Amino acid sequence: MCGIVGYVGPRPSQDILLAGLARLEYRGYDSAGIAVIDENGSLGMRKKAGKLAMLRDSLTDAALADGTTGIGHTRWATHGGPTDVNAHPHLADDDKLAVIHNGIIENFAALRDELAAEGVSFRSETDTEVAAALLGREYAKSGDLQQAFRNVVNRLEGAFTLLAMHQDQPGLVVGARRNSPLVIGLGDGENFLGSDVAAFVEHTRKALAIGQDQIVAITPSEVTVTDFDGVVVEAQPFDVSWDAAAAEKGGWSSFMAKEVAEQPEAVANTIRGRIQDGQVVIPELDGLDDLLIGINRVIITACGTASYAALVGKYAVEQWARVPVDVELAHEFRYRDPVIGDDTLVVSISQSGETMDTLMAVKYARERGARTLSICNTQGATIPRESDAVVYTHAGPEVAVASTKAFSAQITALLLLGLHMGRVRGTASDAAADVAELQALPEKVAQVLAEENDHVAQLAGWMADTRSVLFLGRHVGYPIALEGALKLKEISYIHAEGFAAGELKHGPIALIEPGQPVFVLVPSPRHSALIHSKVVSNIQEIRARGARVIVVAEEGDAAVLPYADEVIRIPLAGALFEPVLAVVPLQIFAMALATAKGLDVDQPRNLAKSVTVE
Ligand code: F6R
Repeated sequence: MCGIVGYVGPRPSQDILLAGLARLEYRGYDSAGIAVIDENGSLGMRKKAGKLAMLRDSLTDAALADGTTGIGHTRWATHGGPTDVNAHPHLADDDKLAVIHNGIIENFAALRDELAAEGVSFRSETDTEVAAALLGREYAKSGDLQQAFRNVVNRLEGAFTLLAMHQDQPGLVVGARRNSPLVIGLGDGENFLGSDVAAFVEHTRKALAIGQDQIVAITPSEVTVTDFDGVVVEAQPFDVSWDAAAAEKGGWSSFMAKEVAEQPEAVANTIRGRIQDGQVVIPELDGLDDLLIGINRVIITACGTASYAALVGKYAVEQWARVPVDVELAHEFRYRDPVIGDDTLVVSISQSGETMDTLMAVKYARERGARTLSICNTQGATIPRESDAVVYTHAGPEVAVASTKAFSAQITALLLLGLHMGRVRGTASDAAADVAELQALPEKVAQVLAEENDHVAQLAGWMADTRSVLFLGRHVGYPIALEGALKLKEISYIHAEGFAAGELKHGPIALIEPGQPVFVLVPSPRHSALIHSKVVSNIQEIRARGARVIVVAEEGDAAVLPYADEVIRIPLAGALFEPVLAVVPLQIFAMALATAKGLDVDQPRNLAKSVTVE
């Protein structure tokens, strides 16, 4: 939520800021703005409601004097609607000071009252302007931006990344973070700040991760990181493992189309380096065997799509590691009194590694004595830093808001985790066969993409006027039904629901009326004739009531043919590996249907890629 970029160096900053914002726009896109200290030492600012293009147009129509110190922001509204006035930056100290912010300042009302009592008036409805005004007041006392900034962040409650600069101190941008992301990009004679490395990856792949409750000051030649008391601390360096091209659309019609197509590579990269001598060995979990043997319970916690990957993970970890697994939505987890202790492993899953709900669940689990492991796609992110161990998915940057390749990589990581734990605990029985299944997955995903893309896209074209779509699955097909429905909802704005197929007769079957499209994920009869036959019975039940049935079934499954209006085929795979294949046509369907409706699949309405508020 909200993308932040800062620059100091020898170059004019506007293009750098706008390019950084373009890469961060996935984080929020309801308004954008930049502030620059120009060559004459004056602070100029422009901000516009709407997507970044509106800001660009405004700058083309009426240029803003350029300068070599600047900050930029792309917003996902929290306090105050997406208007020009509420957009960031916010100014203070007679417009000599600019502030941008990501997160929510929880005590902003009290601070605003305090400032209002001193005669300060506000232009916007935002909590950010309160922080700006506070900084203005503190700056007036000391004339020292770093000192004033420290005073301010110590007064703020909630979650925030805050960046500020003052025209009287050009060549300096200060930033702070609490429970919200901020990374430093180290250039040659120039330095950058960003919500994530995408903000500056085209300029440098050398980065520093900043810890919680830390402040950074960048000048062209220096980077200083301190705690909120001003005590210098060491920031953790890392190299960005992907280059700018990986975050470009590269000829694809959308980032989502590109990312769907990248799934074979994302799955392969997640597996790479984690198979040794025919067994799954995750090097990052080296030295944790005693922990993995000693635990009596696993809780997997996540939100949205990642929580559906977690549901697949439950089947995999229980089957191979023989340990009970619960899946908890992260935002529910800490608001009850869960039974957890040092025999519990809490696995969090997050593409961004910044989802506030998931981060809070991880912190809560640690406080309660649990051991924590995160599955994450983003280097330098907060959740891995707050966890005892991390298994990175190597899906590469995911820019489209709707998660696709990160989801298949998350399931892959959970399959690896299940097999790793099964090996360590001595409970997984057929390592060779499972490893062979894993290794075959990328090729099979590629096969689904090659063989079903046009068919599914055509189907979606025919269904562009559909008002509601249902998805049914059993066993690991159930989470995929949930994911298929979520993808459709979020990018095509069509009502969609996913159900466990067996649940239908307990109520939702009342939704079936003639012509109602229903996707049914049919598990392979080779794994369980029983589950397969139950799903075929479910198909008959809805078909009898007039449903239009679209079946996703493995090649050669002829039992579904009499009852299906359309059959989408996936290659044969082991039961726990099927979800990685079955989700692909559902992603293509959602994308093609949204495209047929003329919608922006990369930036669906009301959403942001990284949800850093609770
Ligand atoms: C849906 C989607 C979201 C995310 C969720 C968690 O397509 O992307 O449901 O899965 O917001 O995000 P991360 O994985 O970044 O924690």
